[in-house]
Amino acid sequence: MGKKDKRWVMQRKNDFYYKLAKQNHYRSRASYKLLQLNEKFEIIYEGDKVVDLGCAPGGWLQASHDLVGEDGFVIGVDLQKVKPLREENIVAFQGDMTKKETINKIIDLMPSKADVVICDASPNISGVWEVDHSRSIELSLMALIATTHLLRKNGNFVVKVFQGSLFDQYVQLLTKHFKKVQTTKPKASRSVSAEVYVIGKKFLGNKFDKNTDFPIIKLIEDNEFLDKYIEETHEKNETANNNEENNKNGLMIKKIKELRKKRSKL
Ligand SMILES: C[S@@+](CC[C@H](N)C(=O)[O-])C[C@H]1O[C@@H](n2cnc3c(N)ncnc32)[C@H](O)[C@@H]1O
Repeated sequence: MGKKDKRWVMQRKNDFYYKLAKQNHYRSRASYKLLQLNEKFEIIYEGDKVVDLGCAPGGWLQASHDLVGEDGFVIGVDLQKVKPLREENIVAFQGDMTKKETINKIIDLMPSKADVVICDASPNISGVWEVDHSRSIELSLMALIATTHLLRKNGNFVVKVFQGSLFDQYVQLLTKHFKKVQTTKPKASRSVSAEVYVIGKKFLGNKFDKNTDFPIIKLIEDNEFLDKYIEETHEKNETANNNEENNKNGLMIKKIKELRKKRSKL
């Protein structure tokens, strides 16, 4: 183990929430982020059905289970394999949350639509602020679109986003889909981390409309889709110049594309 790795291990061992998680048999210190978010914003209630996107190793699954109790249901998905949990009403499987088949599988496994969707997914970290930010925005955009398929009307949504130039636009997009949108950084989130949590309360039940509907699924599976989407948006903007939302989303996708180009050169 290198010097840097040793320092990281030592720091982690001395971390307050790491120790607390060990004591309370949570699989990650992140459990406390969700518990703190819930205490402040009242997102998850007893008996709720919760979907956890990017759930490994399972700290949020456990914390959600503590909140929903025996009458609730928690289902999670992650690219990584998740060690099974002993509670019968927690289900986790391996999959890519940006893929249509994953979202369909969740829908099949759910007894009915979710009361809450939570997403703590993180992209692979490059260490370059804007690159990591754009990857995080892509993931959280995916999470939002998946949520419009998974969540019941008036349900709640929590998503992690790395701060950066597109952050405000992402939050703005959420206000189209939720009655109330708030941003916060819980105590258990390290101050050096760029992560912020966005909370959407009372889902309005709208799917993405035709002009702004760029199924996340396609966005990832088919990179060409971005080009097509931008062209279409620009075409529409020519005929509907006063459609401000259209412009904003077109610009956001354009910016993501620029950032993608930048990171492919790294
Ligand atoms: C910070 S961890 C989540 C920690 C979790 N909330 C907990 O408490 O244990 C972020 C996770 O996001 C997952 N992830 C990233 N991209 C994903 C994707 N496209 N689909 C599914 N999971 C993804 C990663 O594999 C990683 O396990």
